[in-house]
Amino acid sequence: MIKKLFNFFKNKEMGYNEKKYEYLMKNIDFSRLPKHIAIIMDGNGRWATKRGMLRAYGHRAGVEALRDIVKACSELKIPVLTVYAFSTENWKRPKEEVDALMNLLVEYVYKEVEELNKNKVKIRAIGRIHELPEKCQRAVKYAVEFTSKNTGLNFNLALNYGGRAELVDAMRKIGKKIQGGIIEIKEIDEKLISDHLYTKELPDPDLLIRPAGDYRISNFLIWQLAYTEFWYTDVMWPDFRRVDMLRAIYEFQQRERRFGGVPKKDK
Ligand code: IPE
Ligand code: IPE
Ligand code: MG
Repeated sequence: MIKKLFNFFKNKEMGYNEKKYEYLMKNIDFSRLPKHIAIIMDGNGRWATKRGMLRAYGHRAGVEALRDIVKACSELKIPVLTVYAFSTENWKRPKEEVDALMNLLVEYVYKEVEELNKNKVKIRAIGRIHELPEKCQRAVKYAVEFTSKNTGLNFNLALNYGGRAELVDAMRKIGKKIQGGIIEIKEIDEKLISDHLYTKELPDPDLLIRPAGDYRISNFLIWQLAYTEFWYTDVMWPDFRRVDMLRAIYEFQQRERRFGGVPKKDK
């Protein structure tokens, strides 16, 4: 079965394809979808450069991909989607690119929030939001408040997010509680740490998708990804569409997650 699928994909061009879509829709077990999908939205710059355009043009094209994926997750009733939009390391980029990304964020929020709200999407932002430019903070706050009562897809935007920064922030919060006598050192356990992360109350990701052909975490959700299934593709983020996500879900469902245990057949 997997071999058949592999040959099927090998003979097709990547990208949207009616037959591929139909195949996946028929073969995915919709009662076993991942509860939390995390995506490193990568490849915008290379996508644009290859076309002789500025990198910012690639980021803009990436918004189309995001729109399709959020809608697809909503329709599939996936409970949580977390996307990496800007890392704590991305400040190293040229000022023009950082500015373009910040402006795009503001534009995205005001343009999309009503449609997202109609689809019952609940927006959250994770990261050091207070370090973003004022106008971004305002936009984020607006989107989060506007959709706070929604009961559909939990959509997390990772902005000025770093996995190490998140752990530092969690340690500081815990340290303060110890100092104030609210908790004792012996109460520190994995659950307590998880409860002090930006993602508290959310399940850990089941599936991590990284487009654009690089094989690294780039400081994304380092604590939460401990047992997440990774899935990579060479498709650049601006070209990424729901059919690619469905393929990731299909392949995710072929894997056996053992969490340190033994294979099911050996039990
Ligand atoms: C991802 O695309 C978007 C952000 C990091 C904001 P890149 O801009 O990293 O694109 P590449 O990796 O250079 O192609
Ligand atoms: C990760 O991509 C960050 C985002 C997608 C927001 P990068 O392009 O910044 O990662 P590296 O530099 O290739 O590791
Ligand atoms: Mg990149």
